Order: sequence, then structure tokens, then C-alpha cells
Amino acid sequence: MVRVLLLGAGTMGSVHAEAYHSLPGVELAGIVDIREEAADKLAEATGAASFHSLETAMDELNDIDAIDVCLPTYLHKEYAMKAAEKVENVICEKPLARSTEEAREMIDHCKKRGVKLFVGHVVRFFQEYNRIKEIVKAGKIGKPAVVRTTRGGAFPKAWQNWYGDFEKSGGLILDLLLHDFDYLRATFGEVERVFAKKIKRKDADQLIIDYALVTLRFKSGLLAHLEGTWAHQGFSSGIEVAGTEGIINYDSAKITPLKHTPRVKEAGAGGVEVPESPLVSNPYRDELKHFISCIKNGSDPIVSAEDGLHAIEIATAAQLSCESGKPVMLNTTADIS
Ligand SMILES: NC(=O)c1ccc[n+]([C@@H]2O[C@H](COP(=O)([O-])OP(=O)(O)OC[C@H]3O[C@@H](n4cnc5c(N)ncnc54)[C@H](O)[C@@H]3O)[C@@H](O)[C@H]2O)c1
Repeated sequence: MVRVLLLGAGTMGSVHAEAYHSLPGVELAGIVDIREEAADKLAEATGAASFHSLETAMDELNDIDAIDVCLPTYLHKEYAMKAAEKVENVICEKPLARSTEEAREMIDHCKKRGVKLFVGHVVRFFQEYNRIKEIVKAGKIGKPAVVRTTRGGAFPKAWQNWYGDFEKSGGLILDLLLHDFDYLRATFGEVERVFAKKIKRKDADQLIIDYALVTLRFKSGLLAHLEGTWAHQGFSSGIEVAGTEGIINYDSAKITPLKHTPRVKEAGAGGVEVPESPLVSNPYRDELKHFISCIKNGSDPIVSAEDGLHAIEIATAAQLSCESGKPVMLNTTADIS
């Protein structure tokens, strides 16, 4: 039995709690949230104990195998590092951290203590995206040349509107497009050049990025064009890969034959729109099932904390490019297998 302590009873905390609750061989021992009613409600629904601070939870609970950090991004480093002082496995929602420097500190801290650090890049667990990766890797569309991705939904409404504070969330590019940065890097290898543009809109005195367009040039010569939005109703994502021998595409919105996407006047009804796959398997559950099996078997996850750092590196370059209006070269020595 793997005993998990979950930090955060917000949108993602609820998704993770539900997944743990449904997984065999896992016991969701406790849920921590500073909002007492949120912790109590989720704990009651999942049979876990409710706490209002990490310290109290660790004083009262024994034999915790993993702490899962589902807190706002700017708190990831602080809590993942605290967690690494207490347990042998730390699971952290994406983005691993707010910056590459913070991510590096977390990775080094965990390595020094022999603690495993997992990062929730859930697109690696979407069956459709995995199928595309398999088709590409098998050479079935020849040499990949151009990729186009789309991802977006309504602006995420969350605790204290932390997504609206760029310093806390990193905005649309770090929070949302990061999914595609990681997936594309896992599928097509390292990125060498990043160019990005964004459109901003004022909302409740905070500057929120509505749209971002990012162009990536990979070391292989492949070009990718990524679109992200926090301004439309209904979450959807898509990808199209064109190669010398064919083309493959996926559009999560295609289950609806006619789609009208109005611009929304206010943020989402509450919470982040959690992308759902139309296929039967829940990718969040599959992701956590995989991490739990790595904890049990001592094996390495398919997505590493270093991958989490490299995705943040691409996001940081895209942000820099938006600010400077110029392309940014990446000098990564990483080599993804
Ligand atoms: N993988 C995905 O598809 C996906 C989707 C959405 C969000 N996320 C990521 O998940 C993370 C959480 O996002 P969210 O939308 O669930 O946020 P949220 O605001 O809905 O939830 C955060 C929770 O943390 C609690 N909290 C704040 N400070 C705390 C502290 N010090 N101790 C304990 N609890 C505290 C808040 O009360 C709130 O309930 C973010 O990093 C976000 O980027 C990932």
C-alpha cells in the first residue's frame, strides 16, 4: 500500500484525490488545505483525514510514502522542498516550478536526499497524443516537417485569482503552453530557437494574457507553431503533424460537428478547465497510476523532473521573446531519448 498526503484541495487537488481514491494499492491518508472547508469537504468525499497545514499533517500521520503538491505554481518549490525533507517521493503538478532556477534547486535538493521527484505532465498520458507519438516514431508519416498545436479554454478562476498574477502563475505561456512544449520535446527532440507573440487584456486590474503564439524550431529542422488561449468557452486542444509521407491530426473539439466559440466576458465559472480525453481512460488517473507503480517498483517515470525543467526553459524563452520582439536561441545540452 502506498500512502499519499495531498497538498491542495482546489481544482487539481480534487482531480488527484479522486484518482488516488479509485486506484488499488493506494491510500489517500490525508489532504491539506489552508481553506479548512475545502480540505474537509474533499477529505470527507475520499475517506482521507483533513489538515490545514503540512506540519500538522506530518505530526499526526505515520508512514507517508509520497507527498503530492497540487498548490499554486509559485508555492511548488517551497512545498516540494519541505516535502522532500519528510518523505521519499514527491509528486508535483506542472509546471515543476515558477522558473528554471527554482526547478533546478528542487531537483538538486531531491537528488541530494535520494528523494524521487515526479512532475505531472499529463499530456504524456493522453492516449491520442501517445498514438501520434508512436506513429511519428515509427516513421509512418515520413520525416516530420511542420507541427501545429492549439490549446485553450476560459481564463481559470482559482483561489485568490492567482492565475491572474503573472509573478505567481507565469501566465498563459508557462501555465498552458507548457503542456505542448513538453510533449513536442518528447516527440521531436530538442528545441533550438523560440519566437513568440502575445496579446494582453486588462481584467480586474491584472494583466492577463489572452492569446499567445509560439514558433519553435527544433534541432532536427522541424518547425512547430503553437497557439494558446485563455479567452474562449470550453476547453479544447489539437495537434497536426505534417511529414514527407503524410499528415496526422487530432482535434478534441471534433466530437462536436459545428462549433461556435464566442469570446467570453468573464472568467470560467470556477476552477481551471481540466482537459478531458474523449477516450475511456482518464489521463490524470493513468499518470498517477504510473507514478505509484514507479514508487512501488523503484523504476523511473516516463517523464522526468529534468523534462519538467526543460519545458520551463522553453516557456521562459518564449516569454523573453514576447518581451524583446526577437527570437531566442536555446542553448540546451539536454538530449531526450
Ligand atoms: N495538469 C493539468 O492539466 C493542470 C490543470 C490545472 C492546473 N494545473 C496546475 O495545478 C496547480 C494547482 O492549480 P489549481 O488550479 O488546482 O489551483 P487552485 O487555486 O484551484 O487550488 C489551489 C489550492 O491550494 C490551497 N492553498 C494555497 N496555499 C496553500 C498552502 N500554503 N497550504 C495548503 N493549501 C494551500 C488553496 O486554498 C487552494 O484550494 C498549479 O500549479 C496549476 O498550474 C495543472
